[in-house]
Amino acid sequence: MKVRRATPEDVPSLVALFQELDRMQADWRVFTPRPGFYDEVGRKYREAMSTPDAIVLVAEDDEGEVVGMAYGETQMPSRFSDERALELSGVVVRAGYRGRGVGRALVREAARFAKERGIDWVELKTFAPNRGAMAFWEGLGFTPRVVQLTSPTEALLERLDEA
Ligand SMILES: CC(C)(COP(=O)(O)OP(=O)(O)OC[C@H]1O[C@@H](n2cnc3c(N)ncnc32)[C@H](O)[C@@H]1OP(=O)(O)O)[C@@H](O)C(=O)NCCC(=O)NCCS
Repeated sequence: MKVRRATPEDVPSLVALFQELDRMQADWRVFTPRPGFYDEVGRKYREAMSTPDAIVLVAEDDEGEVVGMAYGETQMPSRFSDERALELSGVVVRAGYRGRGVGRALVREAARFAKERGIDWVELKTFAPNRGAMAFWEGLGFTPRVVQLTSPTEALLERLDEA
């Protein structure tokens, strides 16, 4: 298994992996995705490949099959700070290849990229009920910083009016 920078030829595999992740997360999604959302993701990854502030990584097995991916882009996560962080997203390892160090290897490469660019933080958002992902990230030393709470407006008003 090796981790390398993705190339435009990898885009179909990247979108397929992203779809696998999206299916897994469907139950936790609150906001309805826009139509054409997968095409958007493909375009975003393609553009990121020629941007110095972003990185698209793939993990491939010994046969050259793409079995995992990770995307990172430079962000300023706090509204009150100019400090930069590499924001990871689309971190996914194909079912059947999990638990063998592929995720860890992807994150290692992303962290190296951040270090080379003098970016002092790595951050990501994950769905709170994704226990496996939480265990993975916490095992790598990540700690929760903010929690996003959501309620449908109608349900909120009903609850408030009941009180
Ligand atoms: C989360 C994910 C990317 C981790 O990749 P992976 O290749 O399975 O992880 P690794 O084998 O590198 O594991 C690294 C460590 O995390 C732990 N870990 C990984 N998945 C775990 C899980 N589901 N539950 C508990 N611990 C887990 C491993 O035990 C390992 O710990 P160790 O180094 O102490 O042995 C992968 O399981 C995955 O694709 N999950 C589905 C998609 C997803 O939820 N992505 C994250 C979105 S934020």
